[in-house]
Amino acid sequence: MHEITVRPETSEDVRAIDVVHISAFGGEAEARLISALRAAASYNRELSLVAELNGRIVGHVLLTRVPVRKDGEEKIVLALGPMSVVPSQSHRGIGSVLIKASVELAREKGYGAIIVVGYPEYYQRFGFLPAKDIKVTCNLPAPADALTGMEIVEGNLAGGGHVEYPEPFLELY
Ligand SMILES: CC(C)(COP(=O)(O)OP(=O)(O)OC[C@H]1O[C@@H](n2cnc3c(N)ncnc32)[C@H](O)[C@@H]1OP(=O)(O)O)[C@@H](O)C(=O)NCCC(=O)NCCS
Repeated sequence: MHEITVRPETSEDVRAIDVVHISAFGGEAEARLISALRAAASYNRELSLVAELNGRIVGHVLLTRVPVRKDGEEKIVLALGPMSVVPSQSHRGIGSVLIKASVELAREKGYGAIIVVGYPEYYQRFGFLPAKDIKVTCNLPAPADALTGMEIVEGNLAGGGHVEYPEPFLELY
């Protein structure tokens, strides 16, 4: 396979990112979610990664800062997703490259953990653990086993906690 490159999104990439999600998910909900998050003052383009193949954007993953609350205390971790790869290029490792790049980015930026709602068997390959094992819950009405989490800094999720996704994510459900 040709080399996949991963880089942060730029303002030029917005339409191509929409196309990736609409084609992969078969609907506009995830693209709309990303637009809503982009409109927020807290949006950080450095946490939005595109995968390019031969100069074409074929995959995208968004990382969003989310609070994890426990016993009146709060820490900020990263929530991974939405993530998708155009159907014509799926099952070739591009999703894996995006997940590994996300973990690396989180490490570089000093985040202690990443959580994700998605296919648990897939994410567990990369070291994400089932939420029930790490005592993490979240405010999305997703199946409980879809939530997984990974510590970047050992002990960061010790004792677990409740993750509060921002409002636009709730509209996906
Ligand atoms: C899920 C997705 C991002 C994976 O990207 P990818 O580039 O195909 O990923 P990789 O090649 O690194 O890994 C492929 C593996 O992903 C897993 N996977 C893909 N789709 C899956 C699904 N619907 N259910 C469970 N696991 C799935 C499988 O284990 C697959 O392994 P295989 O190729 O041996 O079948 C991509 O298929 C996609 O965009 N799907 C539609 C959008 C979506 O559902 N995104 C949410 C992700 S939680």
